[in-house]
Amino acid sequence: MDHERSAAEADLMRRREEELYQQLMKEGRLMPHLAINVDHIATLRQARGIDEPDPVLAAGICELAGACGIVAHLREDRRHMQDRDIRLLRQTVKTKLNMEMGAAPEIIAIALDIHPDMVTLVPEKRQELTTEGGLDVAGQHKKISRVIKDMHQENIPVSLFIDPDQNQVQAALEAGADFVEIHTGRYCDAENEDERNREFDLVAEAALFAYNQGLRVNAGHGLNYQTTARIAALDSIEELSIGHAVMARAIITGLTEAVREMAAIIRQAAL
Ligand code: PXP
Repeated sequence: MDHERSAAEADLMRRREEELYQQLMKEGRLMPHLAINVDHIATLRQARGIDEPDPVLAAGICELAGACGIVAHLREDRRHMQDRDIRLLRQTVKTKLNMEMGAAPEIIAIALDIHPDMVTLVPEKRQELTTEGGLDVAGQHKKISRVIKDMHQENIPVSLFIDPDQNQVQAALEAGADFVEIHTGRYCDAENEDERNREFDLVAEAALFAYNQGLRVNAGHGLNYQTTARIAALDSIEELSIGHAVMARAIITGLTEAVREMAAIIRQAAL
């Protein structure tokens, strides 16, 4: 059956990726993998106020197509992901569920209850279209380190979404974070090559600084089929969190194809 064949292919692909990952780790290099943010599937559903498309089903398709993780942001305003989604994702995601969240008590309680594989703390503002800047970790040391302690008590690793700024990396380290996710938005939104090169250097320097401090490093926001390869080629980065570009392409080419293409770009860039 087609379904069985594609599941077996995905399994084989994951095994090959794992072998390659182990080989690169032996050589002292990380190979970044692709985590797909499925919020946009929920945004489309909420726009109609009905029950499709389903981000839980989409997450499974992303995994079969080669995604190594699923990211979902349960916002306080519930504009896309709903409680039902995050709970079902917890039960169905076979790779790794990264729950993106603000530090609101209600959302913290849900994370502690459902136990995602990791959480990524982000700043959340009511009026924003998407997460805008990184967290001001230094300015909120007490609050953030408290959340990290609570998560660690449940053995949930914590990533902090920060701008590519060494002061924020240092503050993340002092707050006890396991990971930082370096914000790539300004690099992706650059209006000319000079600006893009400058922003790239900031991302590369912040990522390397974090890695050398012993933090694990992810990156994301705004990455697309043109801008991802350069970031994926950075040795210090473990995971790329990508949503909008993949979902935008999926509308035209289908989700499987869109995820496979992005995973291939990352694989190629990391070699
Ligand atoms: N990382 C974080 C912390 C985000 O908030 C988002 C957007 O939800 C992403 C990555 C993915 O960004 P994009 O949808 O632009 O790929």
